[in-house]
Amino acid sequence: MNDILEALFHRRAVKVFEPVKIPQVLREQILDAARHAPSSFNMQPYRFFWVESSARMATAAKLCLGQMPAATASALVVAVADIGSLAATSQAQLEWMRRSGFSHAKIRDYERTAKIGRILFMPGPLGIFGAVKWAIFRLVNLWKAIGMPPLFRQDVLKWATKSTSLACENLMIAAEALGLNTCPMEGFDSRRLSRFLGLSVRYHEIVMVIAIGKKSPAYAEPPQWRRPLDATVTVL
Ligand SMILES: Cc1cc2nc3c(=O)[nH]c(=O)nc-3n(C[C@H](O)[C@H](O)[C@H](O)COP(=O)(O)O)c2cc1C
Repeated sequence: MNDILEALFHRRAVKVFEPVKIPQVLREQILDAARHAPSSFNMQPYRFFWVESSARMATAAKLCLGQMPAATASALVVAVADIGSLAATSQAQLEWMRRSGFSHAKIRDYERTAKIGRILFMPGPLGIFGAVKWAIFRLVNLWKAIGMPPLFRQDVLKWATKSTSLACENLMIAAEALGLNTCPMEGFDSRRLSRFLGLSVRYHEIVMVIAIGKKSPAYAEPPQWRRPLDATVTVL
């Protein structure tokens, strides 16, 4: 089988890891694979916290409700949807385009798109701008096919969560391909874990925590079950 498919089909949510240290070179490859995932408007609206020092691991594992994958992992990767980084990201991309010799027209196009993006993604105080956007887009949609931008802060976070989740899947498949195992988890105390990482309630939301390490030889994987293809796919 193709190597990528092999990693994809072999990946399991592993519940017990053996104590091994993940070398820095593997850590960097795994995180690099994560950030190569596609993201909406290439805005990469996420931040990964790689927790590996034993004191911090102990606290983070406790905040993952003491779950076995968290308690035995070599590292915990907290994947955070980050909507506070958008302006800096488009600015960084603009600077990269200038340095890389993109034409003036292409740079102007990007500046225009980034400006529209900033306006569309801004919920405004008390979500008032979101309500105005909703009314305008709904009206236009009565006679024209248009995509609805995220309106309120929760919609923007939901938008960021999609791209964050794709990066998480890349991260898990890369770990598998490099001989490691993972377990994605959403069983955690979001409020306490956010505070532990110094996250902002306004801009950040933890999407999942990924336990990463080497599967314990003592851990027996249960058989893998999936719904049949025709229950999950509609071919039109
Ligand atoms: C978003 C998400 C949250 C999950 N949360 C947990 C969790 O908190 N604890 C856990 O042990 N497994 C968790 N899992 C793992 C699933 O239980 C597992 O992927 C599923 O049972 C299928 O098993 P498989 O991945 O080995 O095929 C989570 C998976 C996803 C995608």
